[in-house]
Amino acid sequence: MSTNYASPAGSALADGPPAAGTAVTERQPMSDASRVVRVGVIGYGYWGPNIVRNFNSLDSCQLVAVCDRSPAALKRASRACPGARLTTDFAEILTSPDIDAIAVVTPVWTHYELAKAALVNGKHVFVEKPFTSTSQQAEELIELAARKNLKIMVDHTFLFSGAVRKIRDLVDGGILGPLYYFDSTRVNLGLFQHDVSVVWDLAPHDLSIMDYIITERPEAVVATGGQHLNGHADMAFITVYFPRNIVAHINVNWLSPVKVRTTLIGGKDKMLVWNDLEADEKIKIYDKGVDMASGEGLYDILVSYRTGDVWAPKVEQTEALKVELDYFLDCILNDRTPSNDGEAGLRVVRLLEAAEGSLKERGKLVRL
Ligand SMILES: NC(=O)c1ccc[n+]([C@@H]2O[C@H](COP(=O)([O-])OP(=O)(O)OC[C@H]3O[C@@H](n4cnc5c(N)ncnc54)[C@H](O)[C@@H]3O)[C@@H](O)[C@H]2O)c1
Repeated sequence: MSTNYASPAGSALADGPPAAGTAVTERQPMSDASRVVRVGVIGYGYWGPNIVRNFNSLDSCQLVAVCDRSPAALKRASRACPGARLTTDFAEILTSPDIDAIAVVTPVWTHYELAKAALVNGKHVFVEKPFTSTSQQAEELIELAARKNLKIMVDHTFLFSGAVRKIRDLVDGGILGPLYYFDSTRVNLGLFQHDVSVVWDLAPHDLSIMDYIITERPEAVVATGGQHLNGHADMAFITVYFPRNIVAHINVNWLSPVKVRTTLIGGKDKMLVWNDLEADEKIKIYDKGVDMASGEGLYDILVSYRTGDVWAPKVEQTEALKVELDYFLDCILNDRTPSNDGEAGLRVVRLLEAAEGSLKERGKLVRL
């Protein structure tokens, strides 16, 4: 994309500190008098309406503007948020002194340029997953935001779901014991994307969840898969190796006849199944395991299987995106660094790059 969204040199909103009277006071938390973040959303396609609806529902947000270059999308937006300014021109949002933060809800290949332009113009940024198309782009945005004291939050929505929060609590609390594996299946028929493979479209969800639950840093990635229809991989099997013999496996597929959203997490003491399609009892914990002991002979191994209780912990049912956007506003208002910041986005992009590189070479081990 070649559009340059930076304001003209000499303009109040060109790169550098904002002029007096502009909304964002860099390097300082917002004053108590302005406990509202004024937000502009760019991109009102499939996911944008969810972002707009949730921002609209939050007291600490004033949804000022929605931008989409498609007039048809804006027509839909006008019905959903009659109070917001609507525009097909992103530069209008960028240079608007009454906007503090911008949500970038456009296709992946546009994230870097739009997020960069927003940061250059002194706006905090909420950017869709995956953060950027390359790790170099992500590093540049992180550095830019740090220099201008602005927040970046990457939309890793699942981290704000009751199920993932509960799983993290269980793992942190040692309920599963030392982890053996994380095995996630996210398959369905479509939605085919024109610009990215299934790896860049679906796997960011699993990789961000994995990154949140397994605190060790991954060492290497192997991926295999195939492309059958439009030149992008439409199915992929990604294996991630961690220290201490923890293995993660992710299966993403746009060519599955049925929708599956199931994650298995195995630990030494307990095993967990998370079926996100279940209305109730999304998580079940199995007191099952295997113990090995040496027998009398040198080569005798005694294997004993443990089968105990199964239970389903309570999982909060709040909408993850609403919790996440509320947290985004809170991070801006109280000058906090989000846990799903640019660094978290970068970790996922690095894994995606490694998976893509391995997949192209039919499963070559890529060290991180
Ligand atoms: N967090 C999640 O669970 C989740 C779910 C779906 C999609 N997403 C992400 O959201 C992003 C958007 O996906 P989508 O499915 O909504 O895509 P989409 O193609 O349906 O919508 C994108 C919209 O952006 C608009 N647009 C593109 N470039 C623009 C520009 N320069 N200026 C103004 N408008 C522009 C398009 O006209 C379109 O309406 C992607 O990064 C995707 O990965 C996240």
